[in-house]
Amino acid sequence: MTGDKLDGTTVPASHYDRLGGAPAIREAVDRFYDLVLSDEELTPYFTDAAVPEVKRHQVLLLSQVLGGPASYEGRDLGEAHRGLGITDAHYDKVVGHLVSVLVELGADDDAIAAAAAVVAGVKPDIVESGASSS
Ligand code: HEM
Repeated sequence: MTGDKLDGTTVPASHYDRLGGAPAIREAVDRFYDLVLSDEELTPYFTDAAVPEVKRHQVLLLSQVLGGPASYEGRDLGEAHRGLGITDAHYDKVVGHLVSVLVELGADDDAIAAAAAVVAGVKPDIVESGASSS
């Protein structure tokens, strides 16, 4: 939230606040998993996943990435995705779903760039197979 500090300066609103805080992030993650889990190329990855728990962690992670509370308590991303054999193409599809949800919720270019930068940074932890495109 934009706020006046005691010394008279103003703290700029985070992407997290401008999007609408916790309820908006929960909505984004719900819509994101709706897209991912209805994408028949991606559903097989989630057969053994505890989706509600994964969603809860994804909310915390996205909040943190967008400048909200830093309270991610899930597994290290390398550990969480190890052995899933995620391909480059599937990684790109998941990122596409994430970006389209953020756009739908009214995220501006800066917020999308911030999320995209983080997501690009963790790509090596997530993708295990397939030709690398970057
Ligand atoms: C694009 C960046 C990605 C981020 C930031 C991300 C983030 C996360 C997070 C936070 C979790 C929960 C970890 C936990 O609960 O401890 C998770 C789990 C999971 N993710 Fe991702 N993920 C990404 C990409 C992908 C992709 C591309 C796929 C598959 C195509 C995928 C499939 C999964 C699966 C199957 C789980 C559950 C694993 C399990 O419960 O054993 N993720 N991810």
